[in-house]
Amino acid sequence: MSEIDVVILAAGKGSRMKDNLPKPLHKVAGLQMLEWVCRAVRKIEPKNIIAVQAPNEDFSSYVDETVVQNEQLGSANALQTAFSKVQAEKIIVINADMPLMTDQSLMDLVNTGEGFDAAVLATTLKTPFGYGRIIPIGDREVVEQIVEEKDATVEQRTIKLVNSGVYLFKTDYIKRAIEAVKTDNAQNEYYLTDALAGAKIVQARDWRDLLGVNTQQQLAAVNKIARKRINNQLMTNGVTMVDPATTYIDANVVIGTGTIIKPGTVIEHDSVIGADNEIGPYAHLREKTVTGIDVHIGNFVETKNARIGDHTHIGHLTYVGDAEVGQAVNIGAGTIFVNYDGKNKHMTQVGDRAFIGSNSKLVAPVTIAAEAITAAGSTITDDVPKHTLAIARQRQTNKADFWKRMPHEDFALNYDKKNQ
Ligand code: UD1
Ligand code: CA
Repeated sequence: MSEIDVVILAAGKGSRMKDNLPKPLHKVAGLQMLEWVCRAVRKIEPKNIIAVQAPNEDFSSYVDETVVQNEQLGSANALQTAFSKVQAEKIIVINADMPLMTDQSLMDLVNTGEGFDAAVLATTLKTPFGYGRIIPIGDREVVEQIVEEKDATVEQRTIKLVNSGVYLFKTDYIKRAIEAVKTDNAQNEYYLTDALAGAKIVQARDWRDLLGVNTQQQLAAVNKIARKRINNQLMTNGVTMVDPATTYIDANVVIGTGTIIKPGTVIEHDSVIGADNEIGPYAHLREKTVTGIDVHIGNFVETKNARIGDHTHIGHLTYVGDAEVGQAVNIGAGTIFVNYDGKNKHMTQVGDRAFIGSNSKLVAPVTIAAEAITAAGSTITDDVPKHTLAIARQRQTNKADFWKRMPHEDFALNYDKKNQ
């Protein structure tokens, strides 16, 4: 295979998103769209990945090189800006707003497009609204013209064969062909699609790979598909999901076999869940949650940056943030790891087989040693040594004279009124 550079077009205004975040940085299943595109293209081992960015953006941490497109004059102009950095014989050009792209579809483009000056990845969509429509030359699989939504006639809008915004070019060819592109269109832009006459049409194997994101609705739709793909892969690997439709797992989460995920559970990026865990319903495992084997995390438990050892149970209504929790620990209902003092985050350590009583507050930094116990309702501010019971709450007093001093007739009256 000859060498290929990749150019990611990422300088567009994203104005249809109607928000302030640069479009390529919107997240899909916890990863920025730009990162999704980079992951897919990296798998085909390009020589260099070059991103075209707008003047106020910096995408250099995602790619090998960046170039700035000073004015957003259209996709053809964006690609031209990148030519100064292109060295390989061939280029793949890809829009930054297509997070579902896969290396399989890219390889199909590379293989089928072999020998052509230009090739375009295409698919048929039931609802092609917003996409450039491909008009082929007769029944040949070659482009005559690509017409943008805004320039299309009513008849052309019924065409369902669409342009994905992913192209393979011979570098010499596109450098010349792009010179002829003009701005005589509805948007007064230099359309890259105007340089595609004669391009080989490569039909993608999965139409979903080609979906672009221009609006918030499309972002939500693409998120749904990405999550479905993630859940399917996890189930293939032996994870049980009671209801995949309400299970939200980010892209780079690892889950061991035999683990059961119950409905309403969210597991965020860089979390690693061990084998034979039971998670949820309604658990929120945030970034960098790492669990061992046979861990139970029940309803309304939130974790973050927490390592949780084998056989540990955290059953109900608990926050575990910035913690190292050992093996076979029991954390009672309503426990809060108090990790934040308003300025800094602090760590809590809980040793093996410790027992944290319900409604304990563990004020970090603090260490509960192995086989120590905290009494229910305690606010623990000092370390608890091994084999020790810490009680940190006011002693209960039962006041026997209470009822005598109480104007209980009034009390009873109020009670009756309230219950009328
Ligand atoms: C583009 C295609 C359309 C295709 C669709 C697929 C053109 C003219 N049209 O339309 O045929 O069906 O993608 O999703 O290319 N960009 C720049 N600089 C610019 C303008 C755009 O870098 O001056 C970048 C954007 O950041 C984006 C990409 O180019 O990643 C495409 O631009 P966008 O406005 O999203 O084009 P579409 O209307 O979606
Ligand atoms: Ca787009």
